[in-house]
Parts: sequence; C-alpha cells; structure tokens
Amino acid sequence: MTIKAVVFDAYGTLYDIQSVAAITDEAFPGYGEIITQIWRLKQLEYTWLRSLMQRYEDFSIITRESLAYTLRCLGLKNDPGVFERIMGKYAHLDLYPDAKATLAAMKGRKLAILSNGSTDMLNSLVGNTGLDRILDATISVDSKQIFKPAPDAYTLIESNLGVTPADVLFVSSNPFDACGAKAFGLKVAWIERVTPEAMAEACQKNDLIAPLTMFRALRMQMDQLGLEPDYRVDGLSALVEILSSMPS
Ligand code: LAC
Repeated sequence: MTIKAVVFDAYGTLYDIQSVAAITDEAFPGYGEIITQIWRLKQLEYTWLRSLMQRYEDFSIITRESLAYTLRCLGLKNDPGVFERIMGKYAHLDLYPDAKATLAAMKGRKLAILSNGSTDMLNSLVGNTGLDRILDATISVDSKQIFKPAPDAYTLIESNLGVTPADVLFVSSNPFDACGAKAFGLKVAWIERVTPEAMAEACQKNDLIAPLTMFRALRMQMDQLGLEPDYRVDGLSALVEILSSMPS
C-alpha cells in the first residue's frame, strides 16, 4: 500500500479544542467546562445543519454563532470584549504535545490539513503555531461551501495535492470525520483519545453528567455507521510506525 500524502483534520486532531476551557473559565468562573462542551457540540451541529439546509456560512461565523448560543442558553451576559477574548483563543489553540514531532517524522510525504475551518481562521492558527513551516498545504472547505463529512469537501485533497484518494492517509480524531473520509474512499486513521474502558470508569465514578463525559460519549467514540477506520491509534505519534512500513 502506497501512502503519498498524510492529511490531518485540524480541530480536535492536531489542535486541542479543549484548550479553550482556561479562557472560558476565566471569563465565566465555574462555567468553563460547560461552555467549552456546549460550544463545540453546537459548532459541529451547525456545520451539519447549514450543509443540509444549503445555507453555508464559514466556520468563523458558525463558531461565533455557536458561542453566542452557548452564552445565551446558560443565561450568561454576552459582553463584546469578553466574547472577542474567548474567540481569540481559536487563533492560538494548543497543539497536542506530539503533533510537531509526528509531522516532522513524516517528512518525505505530502503533509496537509483539510479542515472545516475558514481560510482566515486556519491561516492564523497554522501561522501562530508554526505549522506553516511544516505543512505543504492548509486546505479549507470554504471553496466548496459545504462542510465535512460531505463527499465534496474531501475532493479538495486530490484537487489541491494531486494525490488520488487511495494514496492518502487521512487522520482524524473526530468520528464523524473519520467515517466521512472512509465513505469517500480515503485510507483512514482514527485517533481514539478516550477508550470505552475510560468512559466506563468515568461513569462508575458517578461522573455521568459531567459535561466533558457527555462530550466524550457523543463526539469522541466511534460512530455506529457501518464504517470502520483502517487504523485505530491512541495518539498522533503512533502513526509514524504505521507509515514506516509503507512506501511513499
Ligand atoms: C475540522 C473540525 C471539524 O478541523 O474539527 O475540520
């Protein structure tokens, strides 16, 4: 099996979206976790709703609208200064600790991001975190005006990189995205950051209703869609060994 390009999802895969929790908690003490989880749940939901309704707005608008929803539904004051400070974190999200070393170890293949993020958001984030020096391309779904997991979004890999789907390893921790990429015909590695065993343990600790536990159950476990990733790894660095046995 030849892998000529490795293409990564951004939010949740290379970048830790949970890293907004410090700023949301600083802005609204005691609410950090629930804001963080509702915000991300709604942000993803809005991508799917807007795609189905054929009412595309880019991911920066969706991210703002889902944050506004979150503050409103929790009865929190939407102060413009605080709102912009929280939003600002999206341009400076933390990379997962093994992200840079993993990408560096994959040199020799085409490396890219394909994300639902808007072009401007992604360019700021990738530039601010130094990934622009490692990646060959940062591809936004903007030009297709539809979000992953729509097949049209994944066509952007071949049109931007010139690599056919069978020669691409697509990497995502987002189950909906791993399933979408697999359905499209890419090779897929799913990053399973939270195992069902860890979920069971959290539930046994009477943690059932913690927002983070709910988020992990809803958005971090493999979906039941009859689509299995080719690889299931516990972190980004495990990909290096998988690729070492494959020609580029
Ligand atoms: C992305 C979101 C979906 O980066 O995580 O595409």
